[in-house]
This record gives sequence, structure tokens and C-alpha cells, in this order.
Amino acid sequence: MSVQFLDTRFRNPIILASSPLTESAYRIHSGELHGAGGAILKTCCTYERKEPFESRKVLFSPDHSRYYAYSSFEREILTAREGLALYQDATSLCSIPIIPSVTAPSLEPEDWLPLCLDFQNAGAKLIQLDFFYLGTFLSRLDFSEHFSHLLETLLRTLTCQIMPKVNVELPANYIFQLMEKAGVRAVSLLDSVRVPVTDAANDETLPFSSTSCFGAWQLPLSLHYAYAAKQHHLEICGGGGITNSASVKQMQSCGAALVQVASSLLLHGYAKLRELLEPLPDQNSPVRKPQNYNYQIRKDQCIRCHICTDSLWCDAIKIGQDNVPHIQEELCEACGWCAGRCPVGSIVKCMNPLQEIF
Ligand SMILES: Cc1cc2nc3c(=O)[nH]c(=O)nc-3n(C[C@H](O)[C@H](O)[C@H](O)COP(=O)(O)O)c2cc1C
Ligand code: SF4
Ligand code: SF4
Repeated sequence: MSVQFLDTRFRNPIILASSPLTESAYRIHSGELHGAGGAILKTCCTYERKEPFESRKVLFSPDHSRYYAYSSFEREILTAREGLALYQDATSLCSIPIIPSVTAPSLEPEDWLPLCLDFQNAGAKLIQLDFFYLGTFLSRLDFSEHFSHLLETLLRTLTCQIMPKVNVELPANYIFQLMEKAGVRAVSLLDSVRVPVTDAANDETLPFSSTSCFGAWQLPLSLHYAYAAKQHHLEICGGGGITNSASVKQMQSCGAALVQVASSLLLHGYAKLRELLEPLPDQNSPVRKPQNYNYQIRKDQCIRCHICTDSLWCDAIKIGQDNVPHIQEELCEACGWCAGRCPVGSIVKCMNPLQEIF
């Protein structure tokens, strides 16, 4: 079952994608105990976070087939200090391979290299390069020149391996050709798809700078990218829309040696890993206090189905002695995820502390 990917051996091909699953060493360790073969850390960047801190917001499409995560750069991206501390904690606690993920809001090597060197010096053998935040650089005429120069410089300077992460804003054959030419050996697929603000968000004005859409619908796109990467002789750490063992097999048949998964585990918990693996022979996350509301569970309506506890979105929901879950106010960041899942509408938004507003 073990897999060789570049110079690293993974105990099996299913790895935790960079996401809330991998923003604390404790969660990564839980994933390891449930069978994950490796983990890609939450992305970090050399920058200073400014106050106040925004919360994440999660909304579902009416049929629950897609969900949208509204967030901001500062909510999603760890600072260099947080990322390096997470790497130290995760490598001390876990024995599976840990892959750091680095980003920068430019294509200048000096914005990427120092942090990559820090991870290399800390022992990293492979670093994911997260290109989700390139913004207007993508439409510049000299994009390919700068992108190639960045990759060539990193490959020349670092002794560890690099693995760029691709999203649909980077056309598959175009970007893989540039990567192959620069000498890159592996690629990470596929980031979420940025979409315009949806009708689902009509209930309030959302102050977020980006909106991502997730779900099984993404799989055909991801398979297309995997297939194209294979044509360019890249080793593939493929994911995006992986929800069951059939999708794992499809990803592998398109050439992926490693298969990464985020949403499905966030929605259903680590127990889902067993299903994904079947066909194959703290410190808690940082607490961010939200705006002036949070969510509470109405005990009288709760049917104790525990759907709201069966996820890895947050550490705020605990089951009490009466078997009814309750939300720890100080840990809730008001993303709305649990309210979207509750089948009987017993999770309600409240103004601080308990005045119900929906
Ligand atoms: C809330 C959230 C945060 C994420 N943050 C990161 C990140 O920091 N860096 C990264 O490379 N990908 C990030 N991702 C993207 C995932 O790694 C993955 O590419 C994406 O969710 C598609 O895979 P999935 O269908 O298994 O969820 C994030 C995903 C989610 C749901
Ligand atoms: S999802 Fe709703 S009904 Fe089910 S346990 Fe949670 S609060 Fe209760
Ligand atoms: S308790 Fe619900 S609203 Fe609060 S952070 Fe957790 S999932 Fe989000």
C-alpha cells in the first residue's frame, strides 16, 4: 500500500489536503490515527496579519451538493511564524510525511525563497507552492516569463523538492508545459474554484475578498488536470472533488500517485478515510472571535442526530451529558457550517450573548 512520491515514501496514497484539517498538529495527528498517509499543511506566507480578524462563512446550495466558503487571505493564510511552528509541532507529533505549503502575492523569487529555505532547514523534503493568490499577475503578458523564472530559481537554489499547486485559473496544458520546461517534477491538484457571490449569500453583506466553491462536482475538472499533467511527465498529488473510493480510483487511473482530500473529511469526519482506503490492497486550531453574533443549539428542537458534531470544521461543538450537543461560545467563529447541516433547524444565529435573530 505504501507509495513513493518523488523522494518521499508515504504509507498509503490518501493524504490530507491543505485545509482546516491541517491547521493544527492535533488534527493532523487524528488524521494519521485514522489512516491518512501524509498531510499538506495549511498554507503560510511571509506577512503580518492586521486586526481585526475576519471569520470564515460557509453556505450550502439548496440541495447540499455544493458549498461555498467565503473567506479572506488573512483568515486562510498562516503567517510564516505560525506555519513554521505548525511544521515543528506536526513533525514532532506525527510520523507520516508532512508537506509545508508556501504562498506569496507575487512571482518574485525573493518573496518565496526565504520561507522555502526556512522549511528546508527545518527538515522539509518537499514543499507545496500555493498559487491561489496571484490575482492580476495571471493576466499579465509576461506571466509565463516570471512564472518560469520563479520556478527555475527555486529549483536551482533549494535542495528539497517543490510541488506547485494548480487551480482552474491556470489552463492545464499551458501551465504544465511551463512547469515541465522549468524542470519541475511534481504537481498538486486541484484547488477550489473561485466563483462570484451567489444568491445563497443574500441574507447579509459579506465583507470577503474571495469565495470558493467545493463539492463532488469538481471531480471531472480535477481528472482533466491530472490527465494533462501526466502527458507532461509530472508526478501527481491529485485531488479536488474526491468523495468516495470510486473517485480515488478514477484519480489514480488518470495518473495520480497520491490522492488528496479535504472537503469530504471536513463534512463527514475522519471515519470517511476508512472508506477511501478500502479498495487499496494542542493545541487546537487558532481561535478567532467573530463579529457580534454566534450560533447556539435549541435543546428543545434538537433530535440528537449528531450531524453537527460529525465534521472537522470546528472544535466548538461538544456533546453534553444529556446527549444534546452544545456550542462553546468562545470557540465558535460563526461560520454557519453547523446551522447549514442541522436537519431540523435547531441551530440558530444569536446576537451576543443569546438573543436569537433567526
Ligand atoms: C476551508 C478551506 C481552506 C483551504 N485552504 C487551503 C490552503 O490554505 N492552501 C491550499 O493549498 N489549499 C487550501 N484549500 C483547498 C484544498 O486543499 C483542496 O484543494 C480543495 O478543497 C479541493 O479538494 P476537496 O474537493 O477534497 O475539498 C482549502 C480548502 C478549504 C475547504
Ligand atoms: S444537527 Fe441539529 S438536530 Fe442534529 S444533533 Fe446537531 S443540533 Fe441536534
Ligand atoms: S459552532 Fe457552528 S458556527 Fe460556530 S464555528 Fe463551529 S461550525 Fe461554525
